[in-house]
Amino acid sequence: MTDFKRTLVTAALPYANGGVHIGHLAGVYVPSDIYVRYQRLKGRPVLFVCGSDEHGVPITIRARREGITPQQVVDRYHAIIKESFAAFGISFDIYSRTTSETHHRTASEFFRTLYEKGEFTEQESEQYYDEEAKTFLADRYITGECPHCHNPQAYGDQCEKCGRDLSPTELINPKSAISGSQPVMKKTKHWFLPLDRHQPWLTKWILEDHKEWRSNVYGQCKSWLDMELRPRAVTRDLDWGIPVPVEGAEGKVLYVWFDAPIGYISNTRELLPDEWQTWWKDPDTRLVHFIGKDNIVFHCIVFPAMLKAEGSYILPDNVPANEFLNLEDDKISTSRGWAVWLDEYLKELPGRQDELRYVLTANAPETKDNNFTWRDFQARCNNELVAVYGNFVNRALVLTNKYYGGEVPACGELTEADRAVIEEFRGVKAEVERLLDAFRFRDAQKEAMNLARIGNKYLADSEPWKVVKTDPERVKTILNLALQLVANLSIAFEPFLPFSSARLRAMIGLEAADWARLGDTDILPAGHRIGQPQLLFEKIEDATVEAQVQKLLDMKARNEAAAWKPAPVKSDIAFEDFERLDIRTAVVTACEKVKKADKLLCFTLDDGSGTPRTIVSGIAQHYTPDALVGKTVCFIANLPPRKLRGIESQGMILSAVGPDGTLSVITTEAPVHPGSPVA
Ligand code: 2FM
Ligand code: ZN
Repeated sequence: MTDFKRTLVTAALPYANGGVHIGHLAGVYVPSDIYVRYQRLKGRPVLFVCGSDEHGVPITIRARREGITPQQVVDRYHAIIKESFAAFGISFDIYSRTTSETHHRTASEFFRTLYEKGEFTEQESEQYYDEEAKTFLADRYITGECPHCHNPQAYGDQCEKCGRDLSPTELINPKSAISGSQPVMKKTKHWFLPLDRHQPWLTKWILEDHKEWRSNVYGQCKSWLDMELRPRAVTRDLDWGIPVPVEGAEGKVLYVWFDAPIGYISNTRELLPDEWQTWWKDPDTRLVHFIGKDNIVFHCIVFPAMLKAEGSYILPDNVPANEFLNLEDDKISTSRGWAVWLDEYLKELPGRQDELRYVLTANAPETKDNNFTWRDFQARCNNELVAVYGNFVNRALVLTNKYYGGEVPACGELTEADRAVIEEFRGVKAEVERLLDAFRFRDAQKEAMNLARIGNKYLADSEPWKVVKTDPERVKTILNLALQLVANLSIAFEPFLPFSSARLRAMIGLEAADWARLGDTDILPAGHRIGQPQLLFEKIEDATVEAQVQKLLDMKARNEAAAWKPAPVKSDIAFEDFERLDIRTAVVTACEKVKKADKLLCFTLDDGSGTPRTIVSGIAQHYTPDALVGKTVCFIANLPPRKLRGIESQGMILSAVGPDGTLSVITTEAPVHPGSPVA
């Protein structure tokens, strides 16, 4: 890796049709930011490029739904996304967008080059066309009945009910989502990237030359390469995107997955109009793509094939893709709103960016899907950031202020214990570097945290607050060493937690994080003045996480309510049959639990007859015994009596069943006499 002169780091371009959430941050942006910050600290030339992915069908669908233009959609979300990234300290050198002039120009030129070199094939095929709207229909714009589960609202590319991938021609009774009319088949021509031609070199390049790639990435590539690669269409019939720059392609645009990765190139070009080619074409540049696992095939197979076909570009050296992050044991889903959005987090937990960065790295889905829960977030913040890191820093600074008026005391003679501690924390630098170079961010952060653990143990073992009474000289050495550890922490955490590292450096009067000094024991010279200690991290209160969990539960309830559909109406009955049913009202006069029966309550009812009526009802999990006393309920009076747990039950109390099975008894809207008929 040291053979390279520079490193170009890209982070997947997020779609500008929604905000970004913790899954994005954990999967792509925090790890890439850690990596880039580390490169900068090492003094290695690095460029960090990203931007919004602003083309594609979903953006046009959102625009249509909201009655605005696609440009208005991407303008809105580009601004929100850019701001969220900045607030979380994601330190891009450029964050641009694929609607930029530079990108349109770069992507068009790229297509033209491949076109002129004969790197595409052309194919005619039949596709659905809306004759009323006079447009070809993207798969998402066709709805119809799923051939598998018969969901009447399946899309041309997928059925959201049974989850199966579909092609539009499989739909029963297809309809255009634009005009509602039945689409017809019409011939259309598209350009294809013949991946089959690239298969031999791709196979060698990945499976033989890049065995060091993460096993999830290598494995996914292998399963693609084990199948025969097929040509992929790189153009679409759509009116939103980059026009296909060849004659006879009117009304066609570049497929979003063709133009998006070129966005990495365009954005570099926008930032460095004179030097961008060095970053993309000089073999001394190391290209690293940070992505989520759903983007592996595009970054490891399709984009490299595009770059190779063009001929003058380098290929990625590594693609450290992460797996997915789940939220509270459920898949993050933007359509179901099951996500923690960064813009909302920033409003609801202001100033807590490093806490989220820390937890997302500690739980990073590097080798397998992982789970974020608010309880774990709270535990990690309180037990690790506050209790270990913050606590050590605070003790070292408070004691220095107390005993030495905030001046770093001189280090005296070292004991065996001091030497052992120094040995231990010297090793941290090499270990953190080894792990970061191997894209193992989770373990690297653990190593950084280890410095704080070493520090806490050192203070606990050496007990300066006791020793000060008997051997004040010795305390100078203890606190000097502790302060050196604090300074080390402010450097080691710089790639991971940039905001608190900066705060900590301000507290101890250290100007910059000098990575080369990590592991040193003389970062703060004797006599150096530190400032007043402030809390580096504050506890996350129960109420904060409870509010967040409640917010998610409310979202789930809203989704369930929206998805709920009443059962189909049962077959007709004769009116006389209905008349035979005797439904009446009664007032609950008493109620108790039925012994040894979790579900049963025994009700005594005043049904107006003068004789109390007993009904045993299976609603104990929904009501406490006294909850319904005094209330009017409805019951069926002419059912034959039944014995339940030895009690004779004389009828049935009526309840409505909620979506999750909760029962709610039927009562009357205005007072009525007990025994009133319900009709
Ligand atoms: O999956 C996505 O969110 C895509 N917008 C990623 C594109 S990455 C690159 F190719 F631009
Ligand atoms: Zn289905």
